[in-house]
Amino acid sequence: MIRNFLLSLLCAATATASAQHLRDVLGGDVLMGVALNQWQTSGQDARTTAIVREHFNCLTPENVMKSGPLQPAEGVFDFQAADDVVAYAEANGLQVIGHCLVWHSQAPSWFFTDGTGKPVSAEVLRERIQKHISTVVGRYRGRIHGWDVVNEAIEDDGSFRRSPLYNILGEDFIELAFRAAHEADPDAELYYNDYSMALPRKREAVCRLVRRLKERGVRIDAVGMQSHLSLTHPDLHEYETTMDSLAATGVKVMVTELDVSVLPSPWGFNGAEVSQSFEYKKAMNPYTEGLPDSVQARFEERYLDLFRIYARHRQDLSRITFWGLTDEQSWLNGFPIKGRTDYPLLWNRDYRAKPVVGRIIESFR
Ligand code: G3I
Repeated sequence: MIRNFLLSLLCAATATASAQHLRDVLGGDVLMGVALNQWQTSGQDARTTAIVREHFNCLTPENVMKSGPLQPAEGVFDFQAADDVVAYAEANGLQVIGHCLVWHSQAPSWFFTDGTGKPVSAEVLRERIQKHISTVVGRYRGRIHGWDVVNEAIEDDGSFRRSPLYNILGEDFIELAFRAAHEADPDAELYYNDYSMALPRKREAVCRLVRRLKERGVRIDAVGMQSHLSLTHPDLHEYETTMDSLAATGVKVMVTELDVSVLPSPWGFNGAEVSQSFEYKKAMNPYTEGLPDSVQARFEERYLDLFRIYARHRQDLSRITFWGLTDEQSWLNGFPIKGRTDYPLLWNRDYRAKPVVGRIIESFR
């Protein structure tokens, strides 16, 4: 009796002591990650490295492992920045998420066309996808935890995006990409990744895609809900429904690009379609002198609401990644309107943790 009591005290003390870090709040099975840019993964940003070592155990390169930077010309690979990412991660105890193998955006200009600018044949595109994936995934075999194999192939209404990938190969490019990645590194986890996943028709289409891949014996370990959110969108009941629906297909759920914009949205809802942009208006950029306490409070409650959902679903979750460390580096300062000041992440522009970090740790350890 006494022994069990002492053991339980020891466990409680250990748990309390260990859960002083963001990476521990949902238990060891849920990786806590952050997207870092090339400057940060070059190892020259000591303040970033100190924070990452303390609070995270996973890293996604924000841009340097996309097909454009990796293979700027056909057969010409530039791995310097990607090699730095893997070396930086290994030096700092971080798992690496390879982002991303096949995406219609930030692909090299030559990838989908022939020398005259016409779309290439299905056979040529199949070969290019196969070669890109086998070269890239093969290079890092055994050193990358998992890959965003295909990114953003489905539209908000559930239809397939009419990208050159789809227009030339139909939906088969997805299975081709997953099989090529698995062949190049049989132990790597493989993911499908997309945004606006709280939308019912998108949710249903992604679940259909997962079921179809699994029926064909294709390895898919998880689906990434990017989670580029705002203070008001999406409805968190719909967001949570998507987590349940994805888990029901038998894959893990990942939150892969989490940020919460506090700025007015020109759409009235939010998305992450990089091709869209809108002209600058001062009314759309209200917090250039700092964030009012009232907005800061709403920001904190939004993140706490999200972590309550994540805590409820920790059995289904295998990763949460923030799309950047400090507000300064966020892509949202330039999307969908250039030149704005957003406050979507957990660390301030001066690398100080926002109060919400302590509140998350306190609430969920
Ligand atoms: O590296 C070049 C640089 O050489 C050049 O001088 C400069 C000016 O044109 O551009 C630099 O490339 C930029 C790149 O970020 C690196 O900074 C691209 O123009 C710019 O389009 C690119 O934006 C990235 C965006 O994806 C488009 O690929 C954002 O940083 C990145 O946060 C964003 O992330 C995406 C995810 O990969 C997928 N999900 C949506 C998410 C947000 O769009």
